[in-house]
Amino acid sequence: MFRVCIFGTGYVGLVTGTCLAEVGHHVTCVDIDADKIDGLNEGRIPIYEPGLEPMVRDNVRDGRLHFTTDAAEAVSDAEVLFIAVGTPPDEDGSADLKYVLKVAETVGDNIRGSVIVANKSTVPVGTAEKVDGVIRERLAARGEEFPVEVVSNPEFLKEGAAVDDCMRPDRIIVGTRSKETADRLRQLYAPFNRNHDRLIIMDVRSAELTKYAANAMLATKISFMNEMANVAERVGADIEMIRKGIGSDPRIGWHFIYPGAGYGGSCFPKDVRALASTAREHDVEPELISAVESVNERQKKHLFELVARHYHGGENLRGKTFALWGLSFKPDTDDMREASSRTLVAQLREAGASVRAYDPEAMDEARRVFGEPEGLAFCDSSEATLEGADALIVLTEWKQFRSPDFRLLARSLSDRVVFDGRNLYEPADVESMGLAYYAIGRGR
Ligand code: UGA
Repeated sequence: MFRVCIFGTGYVGLVTGTCLAEVGHHVTCVDIDADKIDGLNEGRIPIYEPGLEPMVRDNVRDGRLHFTTDAAEAVSDAEVLFIAVGTPPDEDGSADLKYVLKVAETVGDNIRGSVIVANKSTVPVGTAEKVDGVIRERLAARGEEFPVEVVSNPEFLKEGAAVDDCMRPDRIIVGTRSKETADRLRQLYAPFNRNHDRLIIMDVRSAELTKYAANAMLATKISFMNEMANVAERVGADIEMIRKGIGSDPRIGWHFIYPGAGYGGSCFPKDVRALASTAREHDVEPELISAVESVNERQKKHLFELVARHYHGGENLRGKTFALWGLSFKPDTDDMREASSRTLVAQLREAGASVRAYDPEAMDEARRVFGEPEGLAFCDSSEATLEGADALIVLTEWKQFRSPDFRLLARSLSDRVVFDGRNLYEPADVESMGLAYYAIGRGR
């Protein structure tokens, strides 16, 4: 059993802390947001994440998981400290380290003995050295000198599958020079590291860059497929056939080759930009990485182009009403950060159209993001969006949108047309009901 302290109760911190408590460690999570901490102590989870809520409640009840705003107290007897605070982008896209460095100050001001400081936040190469410097400065100001090892331990969890990713990781990356520290972390992670060894030990800088490389590679696969889909659409080919044709090559693989309405979320857009910014800082022109981003920006607008094309020009959308299914950036989350829905809703409203939107989890978030402007109605169900709608647009592949009643759609949509930003349906199934069907890259 380790005594662990985690800074930050966002996705990464909350899920990591809860999973570490679940396997028997004694975990204290620290956040500066007192309301959030009060809620968590009462078992209220600020995010929607499958499986997380009961796990938090059980571990709080069993006394293994604590939430506090008192950083000094939490730090004082911890053996391993995790930094899992946000790194919002600066104006130039580079990651802003103010929260990470603030944690380093708190650590330096309050530790009372030897600690491992493991950074889980996604941070630019060289951050561990900065954190180390700040901690040492603060210790020196106190006239203290404790053995402190700052390691990079990036997180690879996916929203919507975060608990599972944390309990059964593909790999655990630890960037450290110290064999002793690596051994300690191996013990900490032992419950997640059964059957075969998932721990990959490397130098600190490589660990920091690995995180960006992983996200940028995945984003590259998506942008590549989106670009290919646009070619397929124009040449009269079907990207879904191409996806099957190339995914069966194990060197390419089946994952992350789904074309769509562009990637969103709190990670890919931010990390791709931050990596480009790191490359530039070091005199490397990030040609491919920049293209990944610009292809994605264009892709977020592609569905609107299909809509405008169907109506023979954006000017003909004035007065039209669109049912919209899905607002979150992907299923199983209420997160709308950088979601394609934000771009599309703005485009439709700008063109003078009305939108009737529904999302299984993101309705509160949508109200927060959009407010309640004229021309945007929030509905209680996917069926309710169809009332008075001319056309349907599907934007997030929630399970419940996968097999709709096409007869009902054909009866309800006065223009009898479905635009599908996630390629959920068989074109023949939709078209056999007398509906026109537009998807991504399916120009037949
Ligand atoms: C992503 C990574 O997948 C995680 O490994 C990483 O830990 C995390 O970022 C992070 O850095 O914290 P996440 O942002 O939760 O996780 O979501 P993903 O499931 O990766 O999806 C990202 C976006 O790509 C979504 O908008 C999704 O719709 C889109 N996507 C994904 C596609 O358009 N096509 C695909 O084939 C796959």
